[in-house]
Amino acid sequence: MLSEPVPALPKIEKQHFRRICGKFASGITIATVRDADGAPHGMTANSFTSVSLTPPLVLVCVDHRARILEHFRIGEHFGVNILGGTQRQLSDRFAGSGYDRFEGVPWHPGHTGVPILTDVLATLECARVNVVTAGDHDIVIGEVLHADCQDGDPLVFYGSEYRCLG
Ligand SMILES: Cc1cc2nc3c(=O)[nH]c(=O)nc-3n(C[C@H](O)[C@H](O)[C@H](O)COP(=O)(O)O)c2cc1C
Repeated sequence: MLSEPVPALPKIEKQHFRRICGKFASGITIATVRDADGAPHGMTANSFTSVSLTPPLVLVCVDHRARILEHFRIGEHFGVNILGGTQRQLSDRFAGSGYDRFEGVPWHPGHTGVPILTDVLATLECARVNVVTAGDHDIVIGEVLHADCQDGDPLVFYGSEYRCLG
C-alpha cells in the first residue's frame, strides 16, 4: 500500500490521450438501432466490448454529440455488426454525414427488428439493459439475445488507421 500521498499530476492532454488509446487495437462495428418510426440508424463504433458471459452483456460507448444517441436511449433493442477486413468503406460510410447511410447498403431486420448488415463478420442483437453517462459519452449496455458469425478476417483499427490481419 502507498504510504506517500500521490502528487497532483498535470492533466492528460487530449491528443496525447487519443494517441495512447490508439495503441490498443480494436475491431470495427456498425452499431444500429431503429427509431420510433422504424427508420434504421447506424454508427461506426470501435468502443464495442463484451462485458459479461452470464448473462451475455456487451457495451458500446456513444458520444453525446452523436445524433443517433437519442435512438439508443429510447430504443428497446440495438444491433452490433462486426466488420470484415474488406469493409472499411462501410466503416467510413457510417461515420460520415450529409447522406442516407443505409442507401444502397444491403440489410435486413433481425429477429428483434434491429438493422443487420449483409455479409459482415458477426452480428449481435441486444436488448438495452442500461445506459450510463460517463464523461462526454453514454455507455449503452445490452443483453445479447441473438448472435451469428461467419469465417473471415476482421477489420482492425490501430493507431487511427485501418489494418488487416496478416
Ligand atoms: C473507426 C471509427 C470508430 C469510431 N468509434 C466511435 C465510438 O466508439 N463511439 C462514438 O460515439 N463515435 C465513434 N466514431 C465516430 C462516429 O462514427 C460518428 O461520430 C458518428 O457516426 C456520428 O453520428 P451521428 O451522425 O449520429 O451524429 C467512430 C468513427 C470511426 C471512423
